[in-house]
Amino acid sequence: MDRNIRSVDDVLALMDGLFAPEADRWTAGGSAWWDGFYADRARPVPFFAAKPDENLVSCLDRGLVPAGGRALDLGCGPGRNALHLAARGFEVDAVDLSPTALAWAEERARAAGARVRFHQGDAFGAAGAGLVGPYDLIYDSGCFHHLPPHRRVSYLDLLDRLLAPGGRFALTCFASGAMGSELSDAEFYGRARLEGGLAYTPEALRWVFDGLTEVELRRMNDEPEASGSFGEAFLWTALFRRPE
Ligand SMILES: C[S@@+](CC[C@H](N)C(=O)[O-])C[C@H]1O[C@@H](n2cnc3c(N)ncnc32)[C@H](O)[C@@H]1O
Repeated sequence: MDRNIRSVDDVLALMDGLFAPEADRWTAGGSAWWDGFYADRARPVPFFAAKPDENLVSCLDRGLVPAGGRALDLGCGPGRNALHLAARGFEVDAVDLSPTALAWAEERARAAGARVRFHQGDAFGAAGAGLVGPYDLIYDSGCFHHLPPHRRVSYLDLLDRLLAPGGRFALTCFASGAMGSELSDAEFYGRARLEGGLAYTPEALRWVFDGLTEVELRRMNDEPEASGSFGEAFLWTALFRRPE
């Protein structure tokens, strides 16, 4: 007889296991899927371009995110935003599940002469436990919407543990009606898969992050090919500030 549940982490791990193994994109078991996703760098995936998010650039340009300080890029992939943050004077940590993405990110960092500390693994597991805050900025472009509903608990816990008082948290995620699955939280467990990622409404984002103060929440600008920034209008961009 197995008796496995004693802590919140045990409950969360059990809920991870309610999903089909091949649907996993968010635990250490999902890293192979992401490795496959990043294996061919020539694929026409918009965010494979070495450009930072337009909202990140804009928030820095307008002083909504003060430059400098310590930043964490959560689910950094091939590192395009981490590199931009390093260029803007941040001391940057960046974490991702995929060794293939991080090898690409490290190459990009070497080529740019940028100093970024990359961490491979689950930001909500062992890799995250090794991160030492406080960070002045935690940035997430496209990781949050790949998490199952119960992992919001881990996500909020990470913010609580690592974000400095007065620090900024910014994310981009699938916009309801434009991209991502509109299924209810409960329905994902019935299907045992996340259907490509979760759509969010602005109200849902405000509700999830209600311990933080909203600074800006808007659709991402659709950036033309020739732009120096990345932008797709099917994403929300949000900036929050942690109360002092
Ligand atoms: C859509 S990609 C975005 C990559 C990058 N932020 C960008 O915009 O170029 C989502 C990334 O989140 C990472 N990821 C998902 N769950 C994670 C977890 N639990 N810990 C660390 N990284 C994770 C994946 O490996 C993947 O690279």
